[in-house]
Amino acid sequence: MEKILVTGGAGFIGSNFIIYMLKQYENILIVNLDALTYCGNLENLSEVEDDPRYHFVKGSVTDSVLLEQLFIEYEFDKVVNFAAESHVDRAILNPNIFIETNVLGTAALLAAARQSWEKDSVYLPGVKFVQISTDEVYGSLGATGFFLETTPLDPHSPYSASKASADLLVKSYFDTYQMPINITRCSNNYGPYQFPEKLIPLMINNCLNHRSLPVYGDGLQVRDWLYVTDHCKAIDMVLNEGIPGEVYNIGGHNERTNIVIVKTIIEYISKVKDSEVTEQLITHVGDRKGHDRRYGVDPTKIKDALGWFPETSFDDGITRTIDWYLENYDWVKRITSGEYEQYYEHNYTNR
Ligand code: NAD
Ligand code: TYD
Repeated sequence: MEKILVTGGAGFIGSNFIIYMLKQYENILIVNLDALTYCGNLENLSEVEDDPRYHFVKGSVTDSVLLEQLFIEYEFDKVVNFAAESHVDRAILNPNIFIETNVLGTAALLAAARQSWEKDSVYLPGVKFVQISTDEVYGSLGATGFFLETTPLDPHSPYSASKASADLLVKSYFDTYQMPINITRCSNNYGPYQFPEKLIPLMINNCLNHRSLPVYGDGLQVRDWLYVTDHCKAIDMVLNEGIPGEVYNIGGHNERTNIVIVKTIIEYISKVKDSEVTEQLITHVGDRKGHDRRYGVDPTKIKDALGWFPETSFDDGITRTIDWYLENYDWVKRITSGEYEQYYEHNYTNR
C-alpha cells in the first residue's frame, strides 16, 4: 500500500485532491496534516472522513518534531505539499506568516523527508516529494507570451516571493541531495470549496448578499483559470510519472479579464437565482499594491511528457462552480463566520 502525506489537505485544492485520489486508487493511505487555519475546514472532507484509507492529523508543517514522528509512524512513500498561506491580499497586509508557513514549513518538511528517505546518500525506491507551487512565481506578463518552466522567477508579492523561495529550497534538495522532487506551477484554480476571499467565490458570495462587487483598478488584469479537478489530475500524473528534478507548468489556456469573470457570474446568478443581481453591484475600488497584470501558462511540457490535458471547459466549470455555491450556501456561511468580516473590513474599507 502506498502511503502519501498530504499537507494542507483541508483547504481548497488539497481537499479536492484527497477526494480525487481516494476515488482514483484503491490501495493507498492518505494522511492529511493540516493546521486548520481560517481557510482549512474538515467539512470539505466529510465524504471521506470514515474511509479507513484516510487519516487526519491536526498540526503545522513548521513543527519538525511532529513531522519526524509522522514519518517514523507511517513511513511515507510520497509527500504532496499544499500547506500554505495562499492569499495575495493577506500577504500584503501581513507578510510574516507567509514566510513562516510557506518557506520555513517547506524547509522543515524537506528535512523530515530526507531524514526518513535517505540511507547512505541513496533514496529509498519509489519516494517522491511534490511541491505545489504557482505560476505567480514568474511575475507578470505583458500582452503577449506565456510562462515557460524556463521563465526566470520574478515574484512581486510577499505571497509569490515566499512560494518562489520554497521552490528554490525544493530544487536545492534535488541538486544537493538528489532527493526525487517535482515542482508544479499551476495557474488560478476555481471550483468547490474555495474560500470566499478569492475572486470567484467572493463575487458569488457578494452577489448572493447583494453586497457590492469590488473590482480592483480597471478590472482588465488577466488570469488563466483552471478547474480544480484538472489540477488534481495533473498533480497525480506528476506524483507518479514526473521525472525527478523537473518543474511542470499547469494551465488550460483559459485567460479572462477580471471584469469578464465578474460579469459572467452576475449574468448566471441573475438568470438562475436572483434577477436583482445586476452589473450595478460592480464597484471599482483602489488597485492592489504591486498588482500583476497578466498570468498565462504554457502547459506544453506536461502535455507532451505526461499526456495531461484539461477536461473541463470554462463554461462548464464556472456554471458547475456557481451551482455548487448556490447549493452549499450554508458552507459559505459557516466558513466565513470566523474572522472573515474583520479581514473584509481591513482589506476593502477605504481602498
Ligand atoms: P487554501 O488557502 O485554500 O488552503 C491552504 C491549507 O493549508 C488550509 O487547509 C490551511 O489550514 C493549511 N495550512 C496553512 N498553514 C498551515 C501550516 N502551517 N501547517 C499545515 N497546514 C497549514 O489554499 P489552496 O488554494 O488550496 O492552495 C493550496 C496550494 O496550492 C498552495 O500551496 C498554493 O500556493 C497553491 N496554488 C493555489 C492556486 C489557487 O488558485 N488557489 C493556484 C496555484 C497554486
Ligand atoms: P485572486 O483570486 O486573489 O487570485 P490571485 O491574485 O492569486 O491571482 O485574484 C484574482 C484577480 O482578481 C486578481 O487580479 C485580483 C482580482 N480581485 C479583484 O479585482 N477583487 C477582489 O475582491 C479580489 C479578491 C480579487
